[in-house]
Amino acid sequence: MVLTGAGISAESGVPTFREAQEGLWAKYSPEELASPKAFQQHPEIVLRWYQWRISLISQARPNPAHQALVQLEDLCIREGKRFLLITQNVDNLHQAAGSQQIVELHGNIFRTRCHHCGTRQERNLAAVDLEEGIPHCQQCQGLLRPDVVWFGETLPAAALNTAWEQSANSDFYLVVGTSAAVEPAASFPILALENGGTVLEINPNSSNLSPRISYRLPHPAGAALPALVQALQQG
Ligand code: OAD
Repeated sequence: MVLTGAGISAESGVPTFREAQEGLWAKYSPEELASPKAFQQHPEIVLRWYQWRISLISQARPNPAHQALVQLEDLCIREGKRFLLITQNVDNLHQAAGSQQIVELHGNIFRTRCHHCGTRQERNLAAVDLEEGIPHCQQCQGLLRPDVVWFGETLPAAALNTAWEQSANSDFYLVVGTSAAVEPAASFPILALENGGTVLEINPNSSNLSPRISYRLPHPAGAALPALVQALQQG
């Protein structure tokens, strides 16, 4: 099992979630923008923020850490072992690198859905001219929004169930680039530990999980993950 957070994309140039926002958006915190309340109060500001984030993330490319997880997945498959990557990231970089077995816990910023009925829409929000107003759902005329989980919203049920089930019987858990600041993601590796699994954390800083984790590699993922996977490949 692998659980990733924003830190794995830091070396792709995507700012981590709790890093200070810069420029135009510095005066807002993500909590003030990524919420149903913010969207109801000022949908245009929220969508402009996402247009900015989508344009930023569109320029990012998978880094050696993302690529190492693709090699790890291939190694597990060759050895007949289960592999599952649970990501809290919405930047699509794991998919772009070629990972297959992925659970997107918090959605995907490149997908669009209706805020009212939830229907996914083939609409690129980054290409919408907001001067013409907020785009509406073709089914129910509700407002369109990114298909990501906002503060105070529930996680996609299927993703959550898979994550709990697989974490409960995981014998080796890699936790990469997450502060483990939000639940339930922070509890998945603990569940593996409680069931006798080993948990290894890759993060240059300590996280909320660090005190309970079996092993830590206090290095950036772009260096530590390729080295770890190479060692595993050499058996
Ligand atoms: P955070 O910004 O909270 O944490 C990023 C972590 O990455 C920190 O612990 C950093 O030390 C670490 N880090 C930074 N650079 C790194 C590198 N090069 N290699 C490895 N680690 C590095 O982001 P998340 O933990 O992903 O939820 O945040 C989890 C969730 O909180 C987000 O998905 C978001 C937020 O609420 C939703 O949007 C629902």
